[in-house]
Amino acid sequence: MPGNKKILLSGVKPTGRPHIGNYFGAMKQFVEMQNDFESFVFIADLHALTTVQNKEKMQSGIFDLVLDYLAIGLDSEKVVLFKQSDVPQVTELTWIFNCIITMPYLMRAHAFKDAEAKNKEINVGLFDYPVLMAADILIQDSDVVPVGKDQKQHVEYARDIAEKFNSIFGETFKLPKHQILEETETIQGTDGQKMSKSYGNTIGLFFSDEEIQKAIMSIPTNSKGVEEPKDPEECNIFALHKLFSSEDELGEIRKRYVEGGLGYKESKDILIKNVKDFIRPLREKRKEFANNKELVLEILKKGGEVARQKAEEKMKDVRQKVGIEL
Ligand code: ADP
Ligand code: TRP
Repeated sequence: MPGNKKILLSGVKPTGRPHIGNYFGAMKQFVEMQNDFESFVFIADLHALTTVQNKEKMQSGIFDLVLDYLAIGLDSEKVVLFKQSDVPQVTELTWIFNCIITMPYLMRAHAFKDAEAKNKEINVGLFDYPVLMAADILIQDSDVVPVGKDQKQHVEYARDIAEKFNSIFGETFKLPKHQILEETETIQGTDGQKMSKSYGNTIGLFFSDEEIQKAIMSIPTNSKGVEEPKDPEECNIFALHKLFSSEDELGEIRKRYVEGGLGYKESKDILIKNVKDFIRPLREKRKEFANNKELVLEILKKGGEVARQKAEEKMKDVRQKVGIEL
């Protein structure tokens, strides 16, 4: 593994089918950056356990997500692809961090506050979620963490926790930075809200042609007629055109919105075609990997070994610093 490259690390929870918000917000960056960074990309199964409490769902979620990663073009020769639970040192480090941070500090986390505002049952794992995430990041000496905007605060927590540990026990952890692409920091769903698995407003990254058609046809529009001028920036269809059109095509569509002459039905048809063309090759590549289960499991196993070994090295230092190693 080349030692002079900066370290990239990121993960996604295996909690259901990924959507184009996950892809453009986070996953695409893993692929684009894999040549220039020493990359660690993982399946956050322990984080998923805060909500997924069913053996079959967990197992299929994990396998599905490895296929997704491979299908979008992550190269297992370049990226350490692994499952979070294959690095148990992360939970050990979480405990150590738990002992140096406070409850009021964790109570300021957006995810916790949202859950509380919605009167949800909050398990201790959910409360501790940012600490486990900080351990994921810091144990691998990560420099850069590419994520969507909703994860920004979590990366800030990781920095804070690193600083606190360093100030108590001496310089140990690097301070990681989030990387959020402004244009794609929050992809909106078919209803105009943030696209999210929990809102039922997604376009799945591996949707079938029929599912793509159905999702896009469900986008609500106003009652403006074909010939009426329309404001593209107020249109949920146009927001998605930005992701799937070439620059020229987008310019043309924008012009027809502003001048009038492009009806919502035609706009949707253009989008449906472009999304289908984009998703088809991903779906096919995914199918190839799905037919090769052994290879996929082997990739995950090998990645786990590499990530675990590196984490263990880091923990040797941490245990020394904390004083639990004699
Ligand atoms: P979801 O909100 O659908 O459950 P996850 O929490 O699994 O998604 O997020 C996985 C990654 O995708 C994170 O880096 C997150 O910031 C990013 N992400 C999720 N939804 C969006 C979105 N609508 N726009 C941009 N990025 C997103
Ligand atoms: N919390 C992230 C999400 O919901 C997943 C995650 C867990 C993660 N650990 C991480 C992302 C470490 C980046 C780095 O999407």
